[in-house]
Amino acid sequence: MPIPPEVIQSIRERVNIVELVGESVTLKRKGNSHVGLCPFHQEKTPSFNVVPGKNIFHCFGCGEGGDGIAFVMKTRGVGFIEAVKELGQRVGVEVEDRQLTEVERRRITRRANLFDVCEAAAGFYHSTLMTRPEGRPALEYLRGRGLTEETIAAFRLGFAPARWDGVQEHLARQGFDRNLMASAGLIRWRDERNPGRGSYDLFRGRVMVPILNERGKVVAFGGRVLESLFGTSDAIREGAPKYVNSPETEAYRKKQVLYGLHQARRAIQNRNRILVVEGYFDVIALHQAGFEEAVATCGTALTPEHARLIRPLTQTVVALFDTDEAGLRAAEKSMPIFVKAGIEPYRLVLVGAKDPDEFIQVNGRDEFAEALARPESLLELLLTRTRGRHGASPQGKQRTVEDLAPIVRLYESAAQQAVIGRLSSALALSESVIREWVGRARAGTPDRSDPTAAQVARWNGSKALNQLFWLLIHHHDLVAPEIVIADPDPDVITDYEPAQVAFAMLLKGDPITAIMDFVDDENIRRVLIAAASRETLIPAANAKNAVRQNLDSLLIVRIDQQLQELQTEIAACNNESDTSSYFSLIEKLQALQKRKHAIQTRFAQ
Ligand code: UTP
Ligand code: MN
Repeated sequence: MPIPPEVIQSIRERVNIVELVGESVTLKRKGNSHVGLCPFHQEKTPSFNVVPGKNIFHCFGCGEGGDGIAFVMKTRGVGFIEAVKELGQRVGVEVEDRQLTEVERRRITRRANLFDVCEAAAGFYHSTLMTRPEGRPALEYLRGRGLTEETIAAFRLGFAPARWDGVQEHLARQGFDRNLMASAGLIRWRDERNPGRGSYDLFRGRVMVPILNERGKVVAFGGRVLESLFGTSDAIREGAPKYVNSPETEAYRKKQVLYGLHQARRAIQNRNRILVVEGYFDVIALHQAGFEEAVATCGTALTPEHARLIRPLTQTVVALFDTDEAGLRAAEKSMPIFVKAGIEPYRLVLVGAKDPDEFIQVNGRDEFAEALARPESLLELLLTRTRGRHGASPQGKQRTVEDLAPIVRLYESAAQQAVIGRLSSALALSESVIREWVGRARAGTPDRSDPTAAQVARWNGSKALNQLFWLLIHHHDLVAPEIVIADPDPDVITDYEPAQVAFAMLLKGDPITAIMDFVDDENIRRVLIAAASRETLIPAANAKNAVRQNLDSLLIVRIDQQLQELQTEIAACNNESDTSSYFSLIEKLQALQKRKHAIQTRFAQ
């Protein structure tokens, strides 16, 4: 249930952030802030800052940051509402749930109920496995796979009885509605065109693996067949598929879920790497063997949404792909998804086993650790394969570079430099030649990859915009009137919509913490926190000037874009013989150039 914003704000204001953080992190006073070792990543020198004046914390090392509520969420692993309630108790503000509108209530209750019904089902499957005679064969099976009681409990594995009405009977007795069970994908209607008439359990006679979302809520299940049960009940068909999986629901989108992520989060951060495998049981076996940074996709290829989940935790992905041609292609295809998100991808190559679970059973954990320590860079894989296709002739090398160009361009400048260096030594070509070919390929073949996805994944703001944010945060009274008078077009400020909203709210004087709640965008959160934690940048005496200069330089960037677009249009006109539109374009171009010149000379003063 949502909590009124005023209540949240008053809790925030009352929390003593230094005290709160100080309970779990040793802090030392330094200037206006308190510093300590970051609890969110491993470090030897403190880069974790708590700024009491702004009521926030921020780590310059890993970029984590936020207010007291965020700190409680991150350190205790609880959701927003729980964190607010906990802090409310601490500072003596009672948190009462606001009256919801009918629509809000229906939407929220429905979601909550999807979680509730999945949670209840997970409990039922787990207790069937652990305590009921019919769960016995499944428990034996799991033990036979080498899983310990502890692992079975940690992953809340379960068993679905070999009946048509196991889970639905149980859930109905707990007061759950069959329509809800059907929306959660737990049961099916006998006749889809006649919902509500008769229904049967989707999962029957299967070992149940609950799938949690990144917040730890059960949203779906994977059910593995138990071969030993074939023929024991008419609810289990001989030769049934190995896995039955929950369908997509309002609470479960396969593309947005990584199985095991909730349990893996801490290890991913500590080891600064994530291991992406294919099977649920691989994740489980890997965790048990101490590789707790393992997660699995839920039967889909890797998606940009996965990359977005991973990026805040680590920049290194080691993924397992099949070693056949299809697997290698899948590896290649995943490359832009990662690079766009600022993640460096590697491939884990296992020899002599079909999956990590089997590999560990056969070769032991040490050998797996060794393989994991030497993953193959996907860039190298791509390079080898592309070179193999085109050969080592001069034309072949050029085609290789041109094929790789779209990927190379996705790297950020420092990383791109390294990649070009690598291509240069691999192909025995100078870096400048490679750079030219990479650039030229752009002109010829437009990059059809989705530019907005790249923008969202790693938006960092421009220097000018970051300075404007800083100025608004630290010298609001001085600079806000200046900006209001200049009245800049939001598109001049940035074409990133969440940043436009944040800018407008800052200008209005809203507190950063409220802006972050409202905008709810990871990039904005980071940029604002970084700006707020930075104590000095521009002295008050220069603040107004800095506003004007930064607005001007954003405007110049915008004008340059428009000039470029115009020039392309003019070039296209040259080929036709449409003189009237040609002259009107030239006029526009001259007007823009004049405007740019005027701004630049104002700059120089
Ligand atoms: P695997 O066949 O490798 O299964 O499929 P596994 O997880 O290693 O299971 P065990 O070790 O044989 O018990 C890998 C993943 O592909 C999906 C599941 O997500 C599975 O974990 N899959 C596989 C299905 O969704 N349906 C299937 O019929 C098979
Ligand atoms: Mn397996």
